[in-house]
This record gives sequence, C-alpha cells and structure tokens, in this order.
Amino acid sequence: MQSPFTGAAVIPIAIPGAGKSTLMKQWFPDPASRIELDEWRLRLTGSRADQSANRAAVEIQYMVFEERCARGLSTAVDGTNITVSHRMKLQQVARGRVGLVAVVLDIPVEICHRQNRMREQPVPDEVIDHFAGKWAKNVPPGPIPGFDLTIRITPQGREDIGHLDIEGAPWLFANTTA
Ligand SMILES: Nc1ncnc2c1ncn2[C@@H]1O[C@H](COP(=O)(O)OP(=O)(O)OP(=O)(O)O)[C@@H](O)[C@H]1O
Ligand SMILES: [Mg+2]
Repeated sequence: MQSPFTGAAVIPIAIPGAGKSTLMKQWFPDPASRIELDEWRLRLTGSRADQSANRAAVEIQYMVFEERCARGLSTAVDGTNITVSHRMKLQQVARGRVGLVAVVLDIPVEICHRQNRMREQPVPDEVIDHFAGKWAKNVPPGPIPGFDLTIRITPQGREDIGHLDIEGAPWLFANTTA
C-alpha cells in the first residue's frame, strides 16, 4: 500500500537491557535522528543519570520531536516507552505528520538481566524488574493501539503487523537526514 508519509516516528517499547538503543543505532546511524532523554540530561548537566534535569530534558525532547515530525523527518524516540500515557503523548505529536511505528522488543526478563550485566554501566536489577512489572498491563499482544505499524521482535524472530507496507516504504528508515 502506498503511504502518504515521508517519514516515521519509530517508538521502541522494551524494558531496560532488551536492546533498544543497539537496534535504533543500527536502523538510524545518523545520531540526529535518534532522541533519548539520557542524551539531553548529559548535555544539560554533564551526567546521563542526573534526574534533576528531567523537566527540561522532557521539554526539549518534545520540542525537537515535534519539529522533526512537522518536517516529515524520521525520528527514533529511544526510551522504554512502556506506559500507555507516555506513548499517547508521542502519538498526539506525530499523528498525521509521519507514520507511527511501534517496535516491541518482547525479550524475556532473564535475557534483559543477562545483557544488562554484560554492559559497561548496568542499571540496577530492580529497575529492570520495575519495568517488567508494568509490561502486561501496558503492552498488549498483537498490534499496539494507535500505531500504523507494529514490529514485534522476539528472540525467535520478527513479525510486522499493520497497514504501513514496510517493504514498500524505503523512506521509513531512510529519510533520517536532519
Ligand atoms: N540482539 C542482541 N543480542 C545480544 N546482545 C544484545 C542484543 N541487543 C543488545 N545487546 C546487548 O545488550 C546490552 C543492552 O543493550 P541496549 O543498551 O541496546 O539496551 P537498551 O534496551 O537500550 O537498555 P536501556 O533501556 O537501559 O537503555 C548491550 O550490552 C548490548 O550490546
Ligand atoms: Mg538504551
């Protein structure tokens, strides 16, 4: 199906350690096309983890996201994006401007723990368990409501569900130049 959009808002949905940032970097090699709260916190405070900058970081992130969507540019919003309310805000900004793509990394919590422990700066185990506890209530099986396309990735493979034809839409992961 021909898509009316020139770009996509790509929203990974996954618990920490699942591999969101790794995948988004593969799909969006241009750093300008990926936005992440950690990066804004780093720019504002010198530390990726300094939560005192959250209000400003969130504000800047939405401003950048909205402007890119308005220009029809593809943007990956790297974050856990697990709660419905958080996703709804992103959907409101992107709707009608770019295609909305949910990338569900449905990776078992044990694998996330293992991958997390192997990285340089692991997050505390409780953080992973906290997000894992929210999963069932916020991430339904099948297509994620409000998205044009849901890409579901499991350790066994990948399934694409939705009305955006990803194969016929090379712009989806190509039109990322800022
Ligand atoms: N498909 C994979 N197979 C094996 N290891 C992987 C895979 N994807 C990511 N990893 C490894 O798992 C670790 C966590 O990956 P990554 O940082 O991408 O997770 P994340 O979901 O972005 O976590 P966070 O929410 O904390 O930012 C990294 O060390 C990464 O190299
Ligand atoms: Mg990450």
